[in-house]
Amino acid sequence: MKVNGIPTRTIWSVDHGQAIGIIDQTKLPYEFKKEVLRDWTAVKDAIATMKVRGAPLIGIAAAWAMVLAIRDNAKDDFIHQVRSELIATRPTAVNLQWAVDHMVKRVISLPERERLPVAYKEAEAMTQANVLENRAIGTHGAKIIAELYAKKREPVNILTHCNAGWLATVDYGTALSAVYIAFEQGIPLHVWVDETRPREQGLLTAWELSGVGIPHTVIADNAGGHLIQHREVDAVIVGADRITAIGDVANKIGTYLKALAAKDMEVPFYVAAPSSTIDWSVQDGKHGIEIENRSGDELRFIRGIDKKGKVSEVQIIQAQTNVENPAFDVTPARLVTGIITERGVCAPEFLTRLFPEGGRLQTRG
Ligand code: MRU
Repeated sequence: MKVNGIPTRTIWSVDHGQAIGIIDQTKLPYEFKKEVLRDWTAVKDAIATMKVRGAPLIGIAAAWAMVLAIRDNAKDDFIHQVRSELIATRPTAVNLQWAVDHMVKRVISLPERERLPVAYKEAEAMTQANVLENRAIGTHGAKIIAELYAKKREPVNILTHCNAGWLATVDYGTALSAVYIAFEQGIPLHVWVDETRPREQGLLTAWELSGVGIPHTVIADNAGGHLIQHREVDAVIVGADRITAIGDVANKIGTYLKALAAKDMEVPFYVAAPSSTIDWSVQDGKHGIEIENRSGDELRFIRGIDKKGKVSEVQIIQAQTNVENPAFDVTPARLVTGIITERGVCAPEFLTRLFPEGGRLQTRG
């Protein structure tokens, strides 16, 4: 997508894989700052601190971290250690594990001296593939928006939670890819953007949508149920951090509540994600998906622009108050109307029809 008219991606290789470039997303929406990461530990820190974030993007960043690690030491033990350390940074988003496992599988049977060029080529291929997948997700998702418009003949109101836009991927996004393509096709639409406390990823979504001129309105997370109840929402479209083999969906905390309200009002609830977000080894999401617990300081402190126009942070919860910060929740498949993937849209129970090869990987109940 373009930033100030310049085509921009969220991650790129620098000096033929000697380093990677990223956008520091912790600075957005107030400042657009790029950063170069020169070794795998810098990439690991960027993932942990959410300078790079969003399930598909952290997968690709981790693939590049493997390249930088192998450049420094191509021995088996080291590769396995890096794999474990990277996976531990963000345990819910399965794309991370998928990407590093894919990299390990590609290199581990090769002689050490051959590993780096193969790893580099693989990371490049995964980066490009992510863009194409997201574009395909968007094309399938845009058809849903077009059908809603055909029935309504008025701007389609989409509600989204968190940021499943181009910032969460290499480019285009997942849920927002559908919005971008529908908008490109001239379908009138408007997006309700959940603020998404505590990390405020909704502000990233608003920043993205402003960048291309898509009408949108930021709402407090608690407002979604009310808007759904009053027929102000035609469809909910969110991303995912992990989808189980039966279609349970882990996504940013608060997603489940939107799905409940949507079900109550018979508003379609869609989840857009690439197949690398499907974890075929898990069936029951509520018990089988590890939910990342993040620091309570994310709740205690809030960042914004002060009266002097300076970015600053203030404490809003007293230090002695207990806080809990689960970063994701699980929406059961029964609340999900459809999953929008790069291969098309299906009801959650039919994921294995779209991905028969994944169905063969299912391992536990
Ligand atoms: O914690 P984050 O910001 O890395 O969370 C991921 C998300 O942005 C969302 O949950 C999203 O829907 C999945 S990524 C497209």
